[in-house]
Amino acid sequence: MPDIDLEIHLTDADLAAGLRADARAGLTATPKQLPPKYFYDARGSELFEEITRLPEYYPTRAEREILAARAATIARVTGAKTLVELGSGSSEKTRLLLDALREHGTLGSFTPLDVSESALRGALTDLRREYPDLHLHGIVADFVHSLDVIPEAGTRLVAFLGGTIGNFTPAERAPFLAALRSQLSPGEFLLLGADLVKSPAVLVPAYDDRAGVTAEFNRNVLHVLNRELTAHFDPTLFAHVAVWDETNEWIEMRLRALAPMEVAVRALDLTVTFAEGEELRTEVSAKFRREGLTAELAAAGFAVRDWWTDEADRFALTLAAAV
Ligand code: SAH
Ligand code: TRP
Repeated sequence: MPDIDLEIHLTDADLAAGLRADARAGLTATPKQLPPKYFYDARGSELFEEITRLPEYYPTRAEREILAARAATIARVTGAKTLVELGSGSSEKTRLLLDALREHGTLGSFTPLDVSESALRGALTDLRREYPDLHLHGIVADFVHSLDVIPEAGTRLVAFLGGTIGNFTPAERAPFLAALRSQLSPGEFLLLGADLVKSPAVLVPAYDDRAGVTAEFNRNVLHVLNRELTAHFDPTLFAHVAVWDETNEWIEMRLRALAPMEVAVRALDLTVTFAEGEELRTEVSAKFRREGLTAELAAAGFAVRDWWTDEADRFALTLAAAV
């Protein structure tokens, strides 16, 4: 079997340099914040996979249900030769698309792209075995900065699943969608998974599970800072907080200092002061409504062709064409 074909556009050194800049800016800001991509070191990627199996975390199951029902249609409508997946992680649900496209007879290659090299290697190792005839080409890159690395090959379908689009703020979403559109030709497709606005009684537990896996995932970013920046965070002194922001219609993840602290971040020559109860924002997970998302896609040059939800109307998968 051929070696795994992995193109590295983001090395550990690049990631570390980005982390230094983002941590310096975010830890000295008011309120303190960090960008979400630093959750996903090897341990973080494993914890995320564990999150997808939690009883409270419905998005993965809901999206899988939609994919199972619609994959054949997606294959027929797009006739894609290349499937590109952004933020692919384990590409577990993506197999439904790969199977349908293979069945349809058009698929030649699959290009998963992720910032997590370990997740990508793991996925490609399994996919190589399961799809021996498919051309697999993994890309380690940041989809915020490097969408131009997506190869031009046949008619492309770009999948962006898991509701990861919600991890951008609206101000970040517009340029991201426009950059993605600029990489595509008219007639190529975007398949976008988006979590929907619903009761906080359902939303909050999905980000604050009983087993504490999401809490562990959230605190993992402190372990990343300790390791990469020789920081001295004590993760046990930070509580996991997930709140529903009604105005912005997003879940906000935070880490709340349980005591006043002075934390040394050696690689930045910085000491970060936390008051007791002070919160560090680690992620937002925006939830969507049909009209709003359709309008955002239109503004970026995508025409929504289909809008599918799961039986319980929790999650939407939308197929949009570049126009
Ligand atoms: N698509 C999978 C995983 C979703 S979790 C699913 O639906 O289950 C989000 C994924 O996006 C992780 O694998 C993470 O490593 C990746 N990711 C987060 N920020 C990223 C960025 N800026 N560029 C590329 N990948 C990113
Ligand atoms: N894209 C996922 C989401 O917004 C990522 C995620 C799930 C996540 N649970 C999390 C990110 C907890 C940070 C913390 O649903």
